[in-house]
Amino acid sequence: MTIVTCVAPVNMAVIKYWGKRNEDLILPLNDSISATFNVEYMRAKTTVMASPTFKENKIWLNGKEESFENPRLLHCMKELKQRAQKGNDVINWNIHVCSENNFPTAAGLASSAAGYACFVYAVAQLYAVEGDITGIARKGSGSACRSISGGWVQWHMGHLNDGSDSIATQFASVSHWTEMRILTLVVNDNRKKYSSTVGMRRSTATSSFLKHRADSVVTERVLNIIKAIKEKDFKTFAEITMRDSNQFHAICLDTFPPFMYLNSVSMTIIELIHAYNDFYGTPKVAYTFDAGPNACLFLLEADVPEVVALIQHIFPSDVAPVEYFKGIPVHHQNLS
Ligand code: PMV
Repeated sequence: MTIVTCVAPVNMAVIKYWGKRNEDLILPLNDSISATFNVEYMRAKTTVMASPTFKENKIWLNGKEESFENPRLLHCMKELKQRAQKGNDVINWNIHVCSENNFPTAAGLASSAAGYACFVYAVAQLYAVEGDITGIARKGSGSACRSISGGWVQWHMGHLNDGSDSIATQFASVSHWTEMRILTLVVNDNRKKYSSTVGMRRSTATSSFLKHRADSVVTERVLNIIKAIKEKDFKTFAEITMRDSNQFHAICLDTFPPFMYLNSVSMTIIELIHAYNDFYGTPKVAYTFDAGPNACLFLLEADVPEVVALIQHIFPSDVAPVEYFKGIPVHHQNLS
């Protein structure tokens, strides 16, 4: 028997991926940019066991057995086997996979990104796959390709029809902007109503705003935010991050019939951050929301105590203790 255990963190997009040009290959309509969290927090942990005695492939997610007959899982497996070292017997054995997240699953906190990145990385180790594996993780869940690397990552949409140039690369390491902090505010940890797959499919089919975003907005934003991150220009970084989150949620409303991931607490957080930034006359905090109501705040270390105190004052009930981490540290508060 051969066993591999890996951990992979969540990543949070500051330029969002929303919409596919090819659903089978998971090819996006635009580039996206994200920060990968510290691996000690908000991560998936996956153990893959391979044995010649296993009668079938099996998978358990957070202790519950799920079907292995998931097209995306099978797609990743097929590619991993094609890329495996020749003569490696392990690829002919069945595998048992156990994966668990240490944060709410499918609540718009990038759980599938961490899960697929971890699964692909672990099986790649088992099969001794060499070279880029972000393109394989992408076929599990698009944003998973960004969780393979730490620090600041760009997922290049690519232009080839076979998707071979749609990969993720790191453009700034985790130690580049050491003052940067991320505060996650868990507004609601229920499973989201519309999966990102369903939401994207509907937006791609019906939103003209999505087309405008992909054709005329994102390319410039990507260049500008990379420059801002490289130059540690928080003001520009914050403005682009908030605008891009807002544009993504506006596209959800522009989809027909519309849907909304933000709730009234999310809206209060948005107003609060703008009031706070206005008070200082410059952005001190940037919010971003994925496909759920939970907020992710980017801010500099020096501003953390005041912002945490403000959050605790405005949302006094059920606020979980703040946790502190190295790298791009994450503070985590439960507002539900
Ligand atoms: O990778 P998916 O299919 O879970 O889609 C992720 C979509 C967003 O989280 C909303 C944006 C992003 O770029 O991560």
